[in-house]
Amino acid sequence: MKKLIVGNLKMNTTPSEFKSYAMTIATKAKGTKNSIVICPPYTHLSTAKEIFSGSKVSFGAQNISEEENGSLTGEISARMIKDLGTEYVIIGHSERRQKFKENDKTINKKIKTALANGLKVVLCVGETLQTRANKQACTFVRKQIDDDLKGIYENELESVVIAYEPIWAIGSGKNVTAKDIQKMVEAIRKEVEYLYSPKASKNISVIYGGSVGLSNCKKLLSLEFLNGALVGGASLDVDSFVVIAKENY
Ligand code: PGA
Repeated sequence: MKKLIVGNLKMNTTPSEFKSYAMTIATKAKGTKNSIVICPPYTHLSTAKEIFSGSKVSFGAQNISEEENGSLTGEISARMIKDLGTEYVIIGHSERRQKFKENDKTINKKIKTALANGLKVVLCVGETLQTRANKQACTFVRKQIDDDLKGIYENELESVVIAYEPIWAIGSGKNVTAKDIQKMVEAIRKEVEYLYSPKASKNISVIYGGSVGLSNCKKLLSLEFLNGALVGGASLDVDSFVVIAKENY
């Protein structure tokens, strides 16, 4: 089955280091039926455009400002990254929610700004370990989706991918069971059905992130209810990432 594999480089690599990384992926990704999206830091987006043009690889940013423009020193707008040929943007990553205090209201605004500028959105949702221990994980994630997608029209969902990332599984090597992922994917689809329609629920792509690597990618990505993966740490090693991204699942 064709899967969407998104690599999130976070704040790693320099633009020059990224050049050889990108060239390796563009070359080695030939022939895969999966869709591959690399999300490097902003400073690498021009290089991404140069190298990925005409290849099987798309690219995205890791964040945008919720505002279109203005006196916002240090911010980057959706229009700026779109102008560089960027196709995707990750919104609501737990690191932004936790370390940069982004709340669902800001995330909702960012999604609207991204969609208005023709960007595709990878919306990250996920619970803490405490929330899971309290058996509130599904309720919590459904509420995040409800708040984050407020005012987004059903036809715009074509450009939205939901990434379920349990916060405690990110970068920790901790694995979630396939059963837990399935339960969450069902909860996410139920929420989309409640907010929109059965058709929207069926069509929306739901991917998983949190310590996806060489040792578990086959098992996770073979799950037919998952449309793909968001890979952080393991995307930094180009050879591992190519294996994960190219595999026929
Ligand atoms: P990880 O990161 O693969 O290193 O757990 C995933 C993410 O933060 O998107």
